[in-house]
Amino acid sequence: MTQIFAHRGYSLAFPENTMTSFLEAEKVGADGIELDVQLTKDGEIVVIHDEKVDRTTSGTGFVKDFTFKEIRNLNANKIGAKKEPIPSLIEVFEWMKSNNLICNIELKNGKIPYKGMEEKIIQLIRTYQLSDRIILSSFNHYSIVYSYRLAPEIETAPLYSEGLYMPWIYAQSICSKGIHPNVATLTDAMIKTSMQYGISVRPYTVNKIEDMERLFKINCSAIITDDPIKALKIKSKIEKRL
Ligand code: G3P
Ligand code: CA
Repeated sequence: MTQIFAHRGYSLAFPENTMTSFLEAEKVGADGIELDVQLTKDGEIVVIHDEKVDRTTSGTGFVKDFTFKEIRNLNANKIGAKKEPIPSLIEVFEWMKSNNLICNIELKNGKIPYKGMEEKIIQLIRTYQLSDRIILSSFNHYSIVYSYRLAPEIETAPLYSEGLYMPWIYAQSICSKGIHPNVATLTDAMIKTSMQYGISVRPYTVNKIEDMERLFKINCSAIITDDPIKALKIKSKIEKRL
């Protein structure tokens, strides 16, 4: 059965990558969440998409130039009334003690090669005993391989945005058990063959009804969507028809 992952939390309706967006994803019945991480000046793993805080918060500048204490004072809810701090990964893991959700952590280390990021994340995953509920993904495939070498027990999945030839072979070559492609790159045959090879396929960012219908019909491993409610409704409609 296709799992539904809420992209940056339930980001269609709530400020992305905030505890509220994660809690709301859980509330509506998503199977998992996807979130993005960067590293502060003093080495804290924080949940924010961009290298700079400008787009999503009340502040300006690079995440890497803030201490954790400083970045916590920013408001990650630019449009709403309620102040939302940027979460730490620790805060997310504390919350995960109260549920069974899966968490896809996207390491945002493609532009800034944060030194020690993989080690810190893996140490936290092990401390919280979450190895079987985490998927590490990144557009930086060197980081994917490095993560696998550090922690072969944690699933990894390369992200990619354009056509990749035989992605199931590529995934195996870097010891990944999943792939996270842009949905536009995927044919049904690629999905089926990848899954036959034991590679989970979790495309992003699946928001269109027709894409959801296609992926649910062929029982794709998971979808990553901004709108988990829409996805759940379409999934249940398809299941009734099958
Ligand atoms: O993990 C899938 C997706 O989040 C990758 O792209 O830019 O939304 O982080 P982006
Ligand atoms: Ca992401």
